[in-house]
Amino acid sequence: MSRFGHLISIDDLSKDEILYILKKAESFEPFAKGMDKSRILENRLLANLFFEPSTRTRMSFEAAMKGLGGDVINMTAQEASSVAKGETLADTVRVVSRYVNAIVIRHPLEGTARFAAENSDVPVINAGDGAGQHPTQTLLDLYTINKESSLKNIKIALMGDLKYSRTVHSLIKALTLFNPRIYLVSPDSLRLPEEFLEGIDGDISFASLGEIIDEINVLYMTRIQKERFPDEEEYRRVAGSYKIDVNSLKNAREDLIIMHPLPRVDEIHHSVDGTPHAKYFQQAFYGVPVRMAILSEMIE
Ligand code: CP
Repeated sequence: MSRFGHLISIDDLSKDEILYILKKAESFEPFAKGMDKSRILENRLLANLFFEPSTRTRMSFEAAMKGLGGDVINMTAQEASSVAKGETLADTVRVVSRYVNAIVIRHPLEGTARFAAENSDVPVINAGDGAGQHPTQTLLDLYTINKESSLKNIKIALMGDLKYSRTVHSLIKALTLFNPRIYLVSPDSLRLPEEFLEGIDGDISFASLGEIIDEINVLYMTRIQKERFPDEEEYRRVAGSYKIDVNSLKNAREDLIIMHPLPRVDEIHHSVDGTPHAKYFQQAFYGVPVRMAILSEMIE
């Protein structure tokens, strides 16, 4: 197993380990841009097991692995695998872990990545387990904040679906390592679950965007996670709320950065894309060097 073992929750990493990965990711940026070639994972193989849709996470892991000279095998369509014949996840992982040097897994059920790790002979990386955690997204989010703003004196608003967004659940835990001022902006029905507020070391409060837009230096938007709602009617009640456009940013600080893990639906109007505040596409690019740094540490 690698020095980091499995990466299931952002809590698996200390602050020093997080900062180490961010520093290492910086050194991989030229490779991520195709300006240089690395062979450090030559003859190494990664398996992508995706039981839920993905564009960025799956493709950036693939780009990262190939950028390091390694290769990737993918299982994306359950109906085309033996899962459709009733094979259990434990057996799937036991078999695949004998083919590869590491496994990336995304699954709609919380806790699945940890269960996979218990059945794997190789490191397992959680690429999102239901509304649970998405630790590699958090690492690239922290990398984006560090590059485009600062992790020191951070005043951040987390806005949108804070109940079901796994990117927020991971990020808020990591942010507390950096003494942040955190504002939570969401409809009442999509508030951050209490369990994520327990033990938080830092200033945290509920707010509306209008109250804090002239104070924050990071606005982290999230999509309303339709697929996690138990009831379609409950989704319809909040769908379309909590949107921003250029008018919402009139009183924003000049150095405000706007982030979003993507995909977006309608929560950030396209008029925002051309402003210097918009960093979400750059954030998606940073997924490649950050995942290069993660893979280079996790695969022996
Ligand atoms: N941010 C993120 O997880 O995107 P994908 O769902 O496209 O992987």
